[in-house]
Amino acid sequence: MNIHLIAAARPNFMKIAPLYHALKKEKWANPLITHTGQHYDINMSDSFFSELGLPEPDFHLGVGSGTHAEQTGRIMMAYESVLSKHKVDLVVVVGDVNSTLAVSLTAVKLGIKVAHLEAGLRSFDRTMPEEINRLVTDTLADILWTPSPDADENLLREGAGKEKIIRVGNIMIDSLEMARDAIEKQNLMENFGLVENQYGIATLHRPSNVDEPEMLGNLCRMLMKISEKYRLVFPVHPRTKKNLIQYGLFDMLNDFEKIVLLDPLNYTGFMNLVFHCRFVITDSGGVQEETTYLGVPCMTLRPNTERPITISQGTNRLCSPHDLENGIDKILTEIAHQASVPELWDGKTAQRVVESIKNLQ
Ligand code: UD1
Repeated sequence: MNIHLIAAARPNFMKIAPLYHALKKEKWANPLITHTGQHYDINMSDSFFSELGLPEPDFHLGVGSGTHAEQTGRIMMAYESVLSKHKVDLVVVVGDVNSTLAVSLTAVKLGIKVAHLEAGLRSFDRTMPEEINRLVTDTLADILWTPSPDADENLLREGAGKEKIIRVGNIMIDSLEMARDAIEKQNLMENFGLVENQYGIATLHRPSNVDEPEMLGNLCRMLMKISEKYRLVFPVHPRTKKNLIQYGLFDMLNDFEKIVLLDPLNYTGFMNLVFHCRFVITDSGGVQEETTYLGVPCMTLRPNTERPITISQGTNRLCSPHDLENGIDKILTEIAHQASVPELWDGKTAQRVVESIKNLQ
């Protein structure tokens, strides 16, 4: 069975790695990796392949950055060309990036089965490009592998056939457990002069937080204020860096010695810092899940989340830039007593996905 796993952007690499390794062990399965090239910097792409033991992609579309329409269109044209030359039995897309939508649309129109891993998540905020990608992908996909009960409910409410929905759990936890030894071996705290449990980590890349100068400026000033109390490590996403430079904010942050400003980190290095930090400030999807799993307090700088289980059960809290400082004090006292790990976030999701694919034959 020729199974295409679609890699595209940073969070995707972690999601396909456990599945690639699990499928590789099966005689009936031939997993092949397609990299769309949505992310292309070494530290946004290649470093993840080597760390997660992934081989060179079988197909590389090399589309790069662009507007949403440009990127989506280029992926569709390039992937259609791959599909026209190679026999594919199943296309597996993950997450909610532009490549997820573009590849799904291309494959279903050629009559090829599509399965979506991480289906059913909804922020109910259509100003987010990811929400549009999720809605379209789930409408098109033949198989909907979900991480949590709220995802099943969302899909059923939207009219998805019950037989398409299979709860498999959270694949990001498989990646984390797969890399645990490598994560624990690192010691990034020493490199950056940090003390166990006395620093926070910040990550920001959502357009709503980083694309407008006023919002980004407010967030920078808030991070500087918080860093007076707790040192902060801030690995800067390329989108954010470009805007910080353009709006004249980069040097201000870089010169502020209580904030350690870094280029994007590799997976094990970043997770090593998360293992030992006091709290995380983020707008990432995956980080909300990883902190819940590890019991690390997480402040999410967004008005909503497509991962509500990280709030109802986990260590995550939503906040605005304005509430951030008070929110951190509150979360540090409150979270430790109540958080728990959601069901099926157990490192065995890839195996459940393999069983589900096996049943298709
Ligand atoms: C994308 C995803 C987002 C995901 C994020 C993780 C969409 C709509 N968004 O956002 O859901 O959370 O990835 O990082 O698919 N750039 C580089 N080098 C790279 C990649 C990007 O410099 O390797 C710069 C380019 O200037 C580019 C910008 O970052 O224009 C944005 O990249 P893009 O892939 O469009 O979106 P992200 O913000 O990374």
